[in-house]
Amino acid sequence: MGCKCEEKFANHDLVECITSALDARDPYTGDHSRRVSDMACFLSRKLGMTEDEVQEIHIAGHLHDIGKIGIPDRVLLKEGKLDDEEWMLMKKHPEIGSEIMSKSEEFSRIAAILLHHHERWDGKGYPFGAKGEEIPLGARIIAVCDSIDAMMSRRSYRNALSSEVCRCEIEKNIGIMYDPTVAKIALENWEKLTEDYKHLSCKCCSAH
Ligand SMILES: [Fe+2]
Ligand SMILES: [Fe+2]
Repeated sequence: MGCKCEEKFANHDLVECITSALDARDPYTGDHSRRVSDMACFLSRKLGMTEDEVQEIHIAGHLHDIGKIGIPDRVLLKEGKLDDEEWMLMKKHPEIGSEIMSKSEEFSRIAAILLHHHERWDGKGYPFGAKGEEIPLGARIIAVCDSIDAMMSRRSYRNALSSEVCRCEIEKNIGIMYDPTVAKIALENWEKLTEDYKHLSCKCCSAH
């Protein structure tokens, strides 16, 4: 399944091939990354970013969780909640992903987005507790899209949250977890941004 972003960069197919390596180990992450990438592209355009910047975020969206390739199966594939030690391992994926992309100087800005995609606006995220505009804009955009997808997808240990509950969570965390400008653009364009989940939740309902 390809992504929705109309503009494709030259290495787009290569990026999809790399993400499919992670897909082979954890099918959830591949679909998750495609949806995050689509939403991040959409929001970047709404934020008025240049086409080069949009494409950088597009690639970063596809690759944001690629570091999970370095996480042991017992943690990556665990059904149910992770314990403290497992969480500690899982939280290494931004650094592993950034390290993978740092192999090429050309991808240094993408590596920085991967490194910071779990930081929070208030500085309480990881791996460094960077805050506000210290966090690359691409990482702040992916953080919002990542949360939306995590909440609106069904996981082994819980059902998907409704669109309304998810919208409230984003709103409640403006300026706490999320960059206010990015979160507000997401809320203003909520229906369009989350239209794919209507289809997903239909599939989920019909499976029960
Ligand atoms: Fe992640
Ligand atoms: Fe993610």
